[in-house]
Amino acid sequence: MANRAIKRNFRPKGDRITPSIQQSLRFLQHFLKSPQSVGSVVPSSPALVKALLTEIDWEASHVIAELGGGTGIVTRAINQLRVPASSFLCFEKNPKMRRDLAGQFPDVLLEADAFAIRDSLERHQLMSLDCVVCGLPLVNFPRGKREALLTEVHDLLRPGGVFVAFQYTRRLRPALVTTFDQLESRYIWRNLPPAYVFTCIKSPFRLCHF
Ligand SMILES: C[S@@+](CC[C@H](N)C(=O)[O-])C[C@H]1O[C@@H](n2cnc3c(N)ncnc32)[C@H](O)[C@@H]1O
Repeated sequence: MANRAIKRNFRPKGDRITPSIQQSLRFLQHFLKSPQSVGSVVPSSPALVKALLTEIDWEASHVIAELGGGTGIVTRAINQLRVPASSFLCFEKNPKMRRDLAGQFPDVLLEADAFAIRDSLERHQLMSLDCVVCGLPLVNFPRGKREALLTEVHDLLRPGGVFVAFQYTRRLRPALVTTFDQLESRYIWRNLPPAYVFTCIKSPFRLCHF
């Protein structure tokens, strides 16, 4: 019920197609320096942020991770939606962006490399994750590396946990179908460029081996 109220009231700066000009310029600078790793010329639009976050049950999310924080457009929305007692780890590889995020979000646990997510959780003495929101340009990484990350995330999620990712192509879909137990996808036109949002659920049932 409370979660429905959160969703109803959640309006990330209207439904505009672009984020603020200042944020976009900063993002573009990072893209020009490191196009493969940043993966996009502008930050996600409010419409994409909304599509990423509306399916998550925030009341039931006590440990949250964001992979690829960038300039913080998704980070800010997660920080508004999460319950105050939750732990929120945001991974951002670029040191300059990470410093910037640390200044904007002093209550968020900032970490560098999303591929070291297990070590980070252990360092913070967190056992499992309730949800993971991913903005990494996964198709730009070697296949073995990105598939190992998906398996790691699946292992670290609690049963019933959610992994939500946006991507500009459908190339990740087969790996998501293989790794997770349920998958839904949506296409968000109101973003530059338009993007797929993949929502993946880890089965709530544990397999018992006799
Ligand atoms: C497409 S941008 C998404 C930024 C932001 N979440 C958004 O939606 O606008 C991808 C981000 O992932 C970061 N990134 C790339 N490789 C990473 C890694 N191994 N660990 C953490 N962040 C990484 C990039 O620096 C970049 O900021």
